[in-house]
Amino acid sequence: MLIVDKNNAWLDQVVQKITDKMDWVSDKSQHKIPYTTFNGTHDDRSLLNPSGDDADGINWWTNGFWGGMLWQMYNVTGQEKYKRYANLAEDKLDECFNQFYGLHHDVGFMWLPTSVANYQLTQNPESRKRALHAANLLAGRYNPAGDFIRAWNDLSDGDTRGWAIIDCMFNIPLLYWASKETGDPRFKHIAERHADTVMNTFVRPDGSVHHIVEFDPFLGGVVKTYGGQGYENGSSWTRGQTWGLYGFMMSYLHTGKEEYLHTAKRIAHYFIANIPENGIIPVDFRQPKEPAYEDSTAAAIAACGLIEVAKVVSEHEKDLYLGAAMKLLRTLDQQRTDWSTDCDCIVRNGSAAYHNPDHHQAIIYGDYYFIEAILKLKGVDLYFW
Ligand code: GLY
Repeated sequence: MLIVDKNNAWLDQVVQKITDKMDWVSDKSQHKIPYTTFNGTHDDRSLLNPSGDDADGINWWTNGFWGGMLWQMYNVTGQEKYKRYANLAEDKLDECFNQFYGLHHDVGFMWLPTSVANYQLTQNPESRKRALHAANLLAGRYNPAGDFIRAWNDLSDGDTRGWAIIDCMFNIPLLYWASKETGDPRFKHIAERHADTVMNTFVRPDGSVHHIVEFDPFLGGVVKTYGGQGYENGSSWTRGQTWGLYGFMMSYLHTGKEEYLHTAKRIAHYFIANIPENGIIPVDFRQPKEPAYEDSTAAAIAACGLIEVAKVVSEHEKDLYLGAAMKLLRTLDQQRTDWSTDCDCIVRNGSAAYHNPDHHQAIIYGDYYFIEAILKLKGVDLYFW
């Protein structure tokens, strides 16, 4: 669906810049699964394991985004090389199934942009099998006492049996997909139960969302909340707001349930009201003024979610969402992108977490969602969420 004027010169220029950059970066990084860059060169998270955790290295939650970028480019250019490179990345992820212990709820982030995208475009039966396998692993993390999907395995410093996180709204589309694909409603039941729990316990009256909510894993019921990757408990981690915004839109698109659309719009209104004048998104909307840490990835994800909202609302409501998305994307394009050959990344100034020492770095999902948002505006994105 084309959402802006088809003669938008700025948009055509950005599409061209993406196409040019991905042409050489994909050749250069074809044997990697990048997460960030060091001195301008992509790292390879299929080999590196900086933390030494089971959930790092090949199991790292972002390892689907590179494949997603390649499938978006294949879809828009038809060039065979993108399919070949995307398959290389997807094949590597089989090692996660072998290792098993490193896997977590982020199997949606990993296998939707790889196997589901592949199956959608090529009907590859191996990809279908991988995606169904991942969906079964995700369904296995559902806790009926509390109606939530467990996020992480135990961290070195704690018991996370009762932890659910807002990010999982992006993983449950794998369950909707599995139900559609198999005709078995169990996966969708779990997805909806989880979404309902998140709607009722994560979303605050002002439209902001918690990052982490802990439930009693035996009895259900909220135990406490955590600030997670944001500034502090009760603050408002911006990427978390975007996982909620776009995540509830996805649940709406899969189920048609109006309350999910309403929730996506509530989070969107909170987000839009907090976009600073300069269009640069902080790591947390409630962080201190200094240091002015920012997270470009939140801007790119928010833009995607806002465009999806704009597509389904009435003509007179559309401008609120589309206008905000355009502001975020124009700011990124003008101030935070790197189209040179000096760096393998596109979007600069991502931040993984407020209290993480690595601020303002290239992060692969910043590139992924920027590309998805631009192609969405152009009406030529591949939608696999
Ligand atoms: N899903 C983890 C993050 O957004 O950093």
